[in-house]
Amino acid sequence: MAGSGTAHLRDSDSPKVLQVEHMVVDFPSPRGTVHAVSDVSLDLVDGETLGIVGESGCGKSTTGKAIMRVPPPTSGRVLLDGVDLSTLDKDEMRQVRTRLQMIFQDAVSSLNPRRQIRDVVAEPLVIRWLESFKRSPVIRAWERFVPAATRFWRQPWIRKIFVPLFALFFVGLIVRVVSSALGSENAEGIRDGGAGGDVGNVVMAIAMIGMAPFVLAFVVTALIWLVLAILMPISAIPRSLRIRRGKQRFWKDTDVKVRQVLEDVGIDPDAALDRRPHEFSGGQAQRISIARALILDPKIIICDEPVSALDVSVQAQVLNLLEDLKVKYGISLIFIAHDLGVVKNISDRVVVMYLGKVCEVGAPDDLFVRPLHPYTEILMSSIPVTDPSIDPRAALTVSGELPSPVAPPSGCRFRTRCPRAAEVCAEQEPVLRALGDGQFVACHFPIEHSVSMNGQPGAAALVGGS
Ligand SMILES: Nc1ncnc2c1ncn2[C@@H]1O[C@H](COP(=O)(O)OP(=O)(O)OP(=O)(O)O)[C@@H](O)[C@H]1O
Ligand code: SF4
Ligand SMILES: [Mg+2]
Repeated sequence: MAGSGTAHLRDSDSPKVLQVEHMVVDFPSPRGTVHAVSDVSLDLVDGETLGIVGESGCGKSTTGKAIMRVPPPTSGRVLLDGVDLSTLDKDEMRQVRTRLQMIFQDAVSSLNPRRQIRDVVAEPLVIRWLESFKRSPVIRAWERFVPAATRFWRQPWIRKIFVPLFALFFVGLIVRVVSSALGSENAEGIRDGGAGGDVGNVVMAIAMIGMAPFVLAFVVTALIWLVLAILMPISAIPRSLRIRRGKQRFWKDTDVKVRQVLEDVGIDPDAALDRRPHEFSGGQAQRISIARALILDPKIIICDEPVSALDVSVQAQVLNLLEDLKVKYGISLIFIAHDLGVVKNISDRVVVMYLGKVCEVGAPDDLFVRPLHPYTEILMSSIPVTDPSIDPRAALTVSGELPSPVAPPSGCRFRTRCPRAAEVCAEQEPVLRALGDGQFVACHFPIEHSVSMNGQPGAAALVGGS
């Protein structure tokens, strides 16, 4: 399949905060399985900014969301500070989520329009504070029981067995009624259905025997549901009282934190706290969503196209802000974008993705000056430059449409659009390998650069197959 492999992962001596190993994310769809992310491995070192680039639909956002486990990856591991997130239960995952935050492209719509900024920014703290009060065993049982019961009753095999049995019961009933209606009256004046009536009775009995376990299970489910629903409000009283007692103190501390974090992102708290998200510009709303992500003191923030919707001058301000906050709060960033210029400026390391796979990994300057993968070369060549001596029409372009992730090409996924594709590219998936210091490429015929001028890729030539 453009490339798998783990050659680009740093050794265990590096202070890694995040490791993604062989992550696969598939989505079921009416057209077949969507292979959005296929065998992607990444790592993030403490304090680093890892850029993820690629054209629309290559799986950047899905990778970011799967790290957050919304939804969890289909397979593969995500380790935060060495802890495999898939091994955590719901409560442990809630705790861990505070260390992993995400900001999105459309900041205004990612903020609740009906709430004031003080509540929007405080919300993660409120959720964490409420979580710190242990819920009663009844509520915990309810939280486990309801999804489990709903999952059970939604299983298709239940419908497949129960519906025919239910229909069979009515067939038996109809046979019984019709036979009785057509039958002759006996001595007591009751119409006898004869053999037809007996057949109807037998059919109804078989259907009822078949349905009995389902009916029994349904009654038990409904009873447990009812008992829990009655006990829940009573069992919640002690917790509600504890929350009520701590409320004043919590809001006092929270107010200080909300003000502090708003100041840190360059928003005047006095002017902003009582306003609502739609009263802010895109850039201000993005600052507020950064404040909301920061308030829990996260370790990693996944930024999914955070400046794509902003105009250029505001983009620069938000990027500078992220750089400053990274140092001040000691966070690491995963920066997802399709704007290569932006990724180049902010990232310490860049991962280039194509159709759910990693093509190339390296330092931004290296990828820009000497891309090794044909796809990276096309991407880098498309970055606008200010040098008037460089003809923008000479930029390389990628031909054709992105293939469907439902049926990705065999071998190298880029082969249907690659100007260098050869027979082997359809047969063998290229694996990431080191070529140069800190640069890794998944290509059978990586580009060899002989000259580099004006920061533009130099003359390229084919090197031998892998
Ligand atoms: N919930 C879903 N169900 C089915 N397919 C999905 C789902 N989410 C994403 N996809 C598909 O997975 C692929 C990768 O999507 P993703 O949103 O990760 O791309 P992207 O690189 O972030 O693109 P963009 O730059 O446009 O945001 C796409 O083909 C998309 O249609
Ligand atoms: S040369 Fe082959 S392996 Fe390399 S990107 Fe093109 S198709 Fe893929
Ligand atoms: Mg996206």
